[in-house]
Amino acid sequence: MAKFISFCSQKGGVGKTSITVHAATYLAQTLKLPVTIFDCDYPQHSLTSIRDSEIERLKSDESFLKRAEKLSSLPYEIIPSQLVDALPKLDEYANTNRMVFIDIPGTLNVNGFDGFVKRLDAAILLLEPDPVSFESTMHTVLALANFQNKNGGMVPTYLLWNKYNVHEREERYTNLQDAALNYLETLKKERKQPIDVKFMEYRIPYSVSIKDYRSTLLPHKTIEPLVSELIESLVKEH
Ligand SMILES: Nc1ncnc2c1ncn2[C@@H]1O[C@H](COP(=O)(O)OP(=O)(O)OP(=O)(O)O)[C@@H](O)[C@H]1O
Ligand SMILES: [Mg+2]
Repeated sequence: MAKFISFCSQKGGVGKTSITVHAATYLAQTLKLPVTIFDCDYPQHSLTSIRDSEIERLKSDESFLKRAEKLSSLPYEIIPSQLVDALPKLDEYANTNRMVFIDIPGTLNVNGFDGFVKRLDAAILLLEPDPVSFESTMHTVLALANFQNKNGGMVPTYLLWNKYNVHEREERYTNLQDAALNYLETLKKERKQPIDVKFMEYRIPYSVSIKDYRSTLLPHKTIEPLVSELIESLVKEH
């Protein structure tokens, strides 16, 4: 069965599109797994633009072409769409063995959001260590808890630190992490429903190369621990 995964947030600019492309490219090019991205970050469709410009670059940059050829896999599929229009197409993928990523805009107020959550196997909420990002992520958790996914419960939800700063005091992270866990505990009691939310162990570092080398063709090693943890979680949970 396909696995439908989305990096989501109610806040723009936390890294959804960047981490989607790094994870997808690593899975496809290094691990040789079948991958599709639905690029629903309408209207900018930035992943489709990255792919288009890389295809152009293959024609003019010989060293880029050589590096891409070394990997010897065909580029994975990237399908530009609006979220609501992607829903029936997602169903066509359900019986395949693909990892399907859905890149969405930085808002939950988008047509088709409930149908999208229903189909997800994992929602990964990117978190930055500041109170605004924290609060917006907790709102996203609350929004996801209001929808049921295909298993009739809350979509398995993971909190993932992005742009992790190794020079920052560890307390900054642990304090926010504790506050999140307390909030989730309260939510569980109030709602009397399972709240399926966990922190991922890996923290994606703030790295200029993550920013500069977003590629749909060449994998980026920094993302390897995230991909391993993701695969492990998806296998364990389902
Ligand atoms: N780990 C990281 N290290 C350094 N820069 C990062 C990292 N993750 C994301 N960025 C940068 O943060 C900015 C926002 O990232 P991105 O466009 O992926 O966010 P987004 O959540 O998809 O935004 P939107 O909500 O507008 O779609 C980009 O400049 C990107 O390169
Ligand atoms: Mg984006």
